[in-house]
Amino acid sequence: MPAPFGGTPSGSETAKNGSDSSNGPDRSKDHNTNNTTNNNDNNNIGPRDFRGLPSLMSFCSPLTLKFIDVTYRLKSENKNRPDGCCGNISRRMLGSNSSVASPRPSDQPTERTILHGITGMAFPGEILAVLGPSGSGKSTLLNALAGRLQGQGGSTGTVLANGKRLTKSVLRKTGFVTQDDVLCPHLTVREILVFCSLLRLPTVLSRKEKVSVAESVMSELGLDKCQNTIIGNSFIRGVSGGERKRVSIAHELLLNPSLLILDEPTSGLDSTAAHRLLLTLGSLAQKGKTVVTSIHQPSSRVYQMFDSVLVLSEGKCLYYGKGSDAMSYFAAIGYSPSFPMNPADFLLDLANGM
Ligand SMILES: Nc1ncnc2c1ncn2[C@@H]1O[C@H](COP(=O)(O)OP(=O)(O)OP(=O)(O)O)[C@@H](O)[C@H]1O
Ligand SMILES: [Mg+2]
Repeated sequence: MPAPFGGTPSGSETAKNGSDSSNGPDRSKDHNTNNTTNNNDNNNIGPRDFRGLPSLMSFCSPLTLKFIDVTYRLKSENKNRPDGCCGNISRRMLGSNSSVASPRPSDQPTERTILHGITGMAFPGEILAVLGPSGSGKSTLLNALAGRLQGQGGSTGTVLANGKRLTKSVLRKTGFVTQDDVLCPHLTVREILVFCSLLRLPTVLSRKEKVSVAESVMSELGLDKCQNTIIGNSFIRGVSGGERKRVSIAHELLLNPSLLILDEPTSGLDSTAAHRLLLTLGSLAQKGKTVVTSIHQPSSRVYQMFDSVLVLSEGKCLYYGKGSDAMSYFAAIGYSPSFPMNPADFLLDLANGM
């Protein structure tokens, strides 16, 4: 763990306080959580192309996500209690004859903090990338942002959508693409998307309209070519890894979410496929969606597509701010690579304490 960055970085403070900082970028000047401003921001997003998309897909209300001091603590009960079966087994294995063992300090429930007060913002029309080594808390943070830790003990902090707490209607406007694809391997791409479209879209739409939404999402994500191929898995040959990821994204896009959260969508893809997928996410962002994605090891050309970057190390925020400002921020506090390198590699080295 890199000790020099133990505290809250200036970028993180900026999001919390809305004040400027010489090192961390001041996102509050570029954006405003106010709805009216969001609409204005949205108008500046760039050319919007809603070719042939049914009306359901052509509008997406802008959503600014703000998260303040998100903390997640996990209580783990020690299973080696003296009265439990594991306790008995372990005692037998260790050769202890005592039938009544007094609890040891290690038998007490332990608490582990997975996320330490993470603060930041994600804006419509932008991609926020969450970087960090394996086990640094990326998936846990994304789950918190998607309201999936709500009601679970141990989760504290505030997550706001357009300045308001997450409500059911906001959660309905949130698409979540999990780290592991959960798709039926025996169905074709078209079957999955049409089936989900028929199930998930509102009943006011006719069957024909629902099918046309599925078709437009398919073409939006470049899945036309493989629409009649089955998904497959490790035992049955099906679509490629990149195509499977696109189907998972398409599945979430059916409801035209304002906020799209993706957990490591590029894992297992080569750098070209990863770049292509990020281009797709970029075009979705351009249409006014707020995109938050965790990513393991982005190439430099993928990195430069991120508007904001949040680097996690052991559940702590090492950096939050503009992706393009990260290197100069670390150079300003005395950390710069000895030779030109991919900023993502450098940030991950720092997060790993190297
Ligand atoms: N419900 C849980 N029970 C036990 N440990 C958990 C739980 N949830 C998270 N953790 C632990 O919290 C840490 C962070 O997990 P998380 O899945 O968020 O990491 P990650 O950054 O997404 O890792 P990866 O890149 O490998 O997916 C890990 O050490 C994990 O073991
Ligand atoms: Mg993960």
